[in-house]
Amino acid sequence: MSGHLHAAPEPSVTVRTPGKVNLVLRSGARRDDGYHPLSTVFQAVSLFEEVTATHVAPGTGITLTVSGPQADVVPLDETNLAWRAARAVAGHTGMDADVALHIHKGVPVAGGMAGGSADAAAALVACDALWDAGLSRHELTMLGAELGADVPFALLGHTAVGTGRGDVLTPVLTRGEFHWVFAVQDEGLSTPSVFARFDELSGTAPAADHAEAAAVAAGRPGAAGRPDAADAGRRPDPGDDAGLMTALRAGDPTALGEALHNDLQAAALDLRPELGRVLEIARDAGTLGALVSGSGPTVAALARSRRHALAIAAAWTSAGVVASVWTATGPAPGARITG
Ligand code: C5P
Repeated sequence: MSGHLHAAPEPSVTVRTPGKVNLVLRSGARRDDGYHPLSTVFQAVSLFEEVTATHVAPGTGITLTVSGPQADVVPLDETNLAWRAARAVAGHTGMDADVALHIHKGVPVAGGMAGGSADAAAALVACDALWDAGLSRHELTMLGAELGADVPFALLGHTAVGTGRGDVLTPVLTRGEFHWVFAVQDEGLSTPSVFARFDELSGTAPAADHAEAAAVAAGRPGAAGRPDAADAGRRPDPGDDAGLMTALRAGDPTALGEALHNDLQAAALDLRPELGRVLEIARDAGTLGALVSGSGPTVAALARSRRHALAIAAAWTSAGVVASVWTATGPAPGARITG
């Protein structure tokens, strides 16, 4: 009888992960590893990626299919972060990387909302469950951080402060629900190119590289390899986020709107001047605060209510400045097994 108590292995596992908006993003100067030290506050929103991992015959390897809006621009090979996530779980556990992955996209592609990172987070959790690998949340987070700076937040969800590359997270307590509307563009922006323009506009990276090279040449240890020291002298402007934290704790959308800030916005606007008009229209429609989401080009506008979010969406659509508009609420939960 006991044999009947063993559940048959699941043929597939589906995991849902959220996209994000950065409520505040402050960036320091580029480090030697190419990353920028950040001080950011992420909020997960109710636009979700869904990754289904299905058993396949041994020796099949990894296969990948994608559906949903903008699916046609998603790579289907090992450059896809979900693919690399499956390989990372296999590599870490010594298992064979045999799995069929299907991604259903609900987050804009290359939009500054970490849709690709959400796919990686979902694929990590899905493969771990499918293969019964038993990885801890800590191990999944470590594997995720190697895949991309935003992957740990897609696992965690809700609202969190991010430091380091954005991957060192501290949860933030919030009250209530915030209403967001997103202006999505046809053509995405590459995150490295936005950070590169940020470097040009702030004129910082070369001096920092010379300081590092001089230290190494003089026989002094350079900052590289010492994570705490790597940011020294390059840290973001500390800013004052007390107002933001109070707004989140109180569930006060007006105060949250006033506290929104993104250091990458000027760089994104420089690369895509037309985003200025998108911001302006949201302000004319009475948004509580509008900003470029992460590295853009998606613009996020905070609304008073769902009805107000729809009014901002209508203003964008009738002005013809967006490819599509998506409404959502935040915060939203992190990675969840849904089937
Ligand atoms: O980690 P991820 O692959 O998502 O980052 C993509 C790129 O964005 C990095 O290669 C880097 O150019 C830039 N980036 C950065 N600083 C960060 C996060 C990302 O410069 N904190």
